[in-house]
Amino acid sequence: MSETPPSITIGLLGCGTVGTGILELIRRRQWHEYWVRVNRAFVRDPARPRLLPVPVECTDRVEQIVTDPDIDVVIDVLPDPGTAYGPVRQALENRKHVISANWQLLATHGDELEQFAREQGVAFLYEAAMTGSVPFAHIAQRWTRVSPIRAFLGIPHGVERLWGLPESRSDDGASESEQMMRFGIAPSARTEHEWERSVAWVILIGRWAAGTWISREHIRIRKNTPKDHRVIELARAHGYALCPAFLWEDHTTWQRALVEWMAVPDRCPLAHLSPYEAGLLVWYEDIGPQLYTGLGGGALPAAAAVLADLLRIVQRDWSFTRALSWHPHRDDQAQDAYFLVLHVAHQSDNIHACVTHLQDHAISVQHVHVNTHPASPGFEIVIVTERVPDATMRTVVHSLEKHPGVHTVDAFRIPDILTWSPERVYHKQWTPAEIAHAVSSG
Ligand SMILES: NC(=O)c1ccc[n+]([C@@H]2O[C@H](COP(=O)([O-])OP(=O)(O)OC[C@H]3O[C@@H](n4cnc5c(N)ncnc54)[C@H](OP(=O)(O)O)[C@@H]3O)[C@@H](O)[C@H]2O)c1
Repeated sequence: MSETPPSITIGLLGCGTVGTGILELIRRRQWHEYWVRVNRAFVRDPARPRLLPVPVECTDRVEQIVTDPDIDVVIDVLPDPGTAYGPVRQALENRKHVISANWQLLATHGDELEQFAREQGVAFLYEAAMTGSVPFAHIAQRWTRVSPIRAFLGIPHGVERLWGLPESRSDDGASESEQMMRFGIAPSARTEHEWERSVAWVILIGRWAAGTWISREHIRIRKNTPKDHRVIELARAHGYALCPAFLWEDHTTWQRALVEWMAVPDRCPLAHLSPYEAGLLVWYEDIGPQLYTGLGGGALPAAAAVLADLLRIVQRDWSFTRALSWHPHRDDQAQDAYFLVLHVAHQSDNIHACVTHLQDHAISVQHVHVNTHPASPGFEIVIVTERVPDATMRTVVHSLEKHPGVHTVDAFRIPDILTWSPERVYHKQWTPAEIAHAVSSG
């Protein structure tokens, strides 16, 4: 029998989807009978009748939670920084541990609140806010002490992949949105908001991976949405999935953080995520890429991440890594391959000019394919390049766009982490003793 943890009293800031999920998990584990007491929940409308899995007093007076001396841990499951910042700050002032699932609060005030929690000597944990609660952050933080994270590529939970894509159907005819709803995930509106979430995820994961809070100004966002569906189809036909993704890389001489549509090769599992899954490919320097995927949100996954943090507080297993400063990215030294689709006027001269243009910038081409365009006169040229400096590719795309024979240019990065080779890890390294032996016997 495992030992019952010491009893603890929690107060909820918010009691909606995730808040109710927390109460449901407490009920399922019967923790409320032994060691967890949920004292109160701060909500907008306490008079609204609610069916809560564990009875909790609801209040619209936040001070009844953040100043209540009986409450040890405050859990923030409020919707945004506007509603949560003041109460969270007050809870920390009153030396309460705080757990937050509120990724927007973390992305905007995480640095300051974590620093303040450290000064107060209390925990400030937020696993539930990371990648929509795919449980990777705590494990990654431990691994990274041994083998640093050099890069990660993330695809936020798949609703974004529905953007501009015709909905595929499962065997029983359910649309992707319907499949998501079966898992309790409501498809969100496809708006700017999705990019905000990607930016927030880079900020949060950067914090865990490198002890660094990346600020918004250090993240380059490019909304290079495919100009028409045909580009998505062409990419599929050539073995690539186009998806909005976030990329973070930390090399010895340069760093970068990007949010944009990228081309993910079919052989990478990230190209096959369901619309309700989130995925993260983490490249540990000495281990190679590891893949984390999950449902990416919903009441119970997020609640489980919150309660895992609660256990860390009870076991006093929380510590702060030193926050390092983050320098603006230097993409002049970063290199990736590119997937390009050009739509050119009906003259072979134009095709020749485009390819020559790449060669003039010393860009090697892996693959070229030319089709006639089914809907209009002209040609589609699909080009996959070898690795090329970011800055060079930007110049090339701008000048191709100005070329009189070129109607449209779509350019998608194939990040280096996706073309990673196992030789980088499994390549035999000589130990110092072996080198000494080889020299002396040689
Ligand atoms: N849902 C997910 O899958 C998921 C996953 C990971 C992280 N998160 C994050 O977790 C947080 C909570 O998400 P959720 O889905 O549980 O949200 P939600 O269902 O909208 O619940 C929000 C709760 O906050 C309360 N609230 C809203 N505005 C308030 C105000 N001005 N004053 C007092 N209370 C207020 C609401 O009160 P009423 O009940 O009276 O309306 C409700 O109880 C968000 O920051 C979200 O981004 C969500």
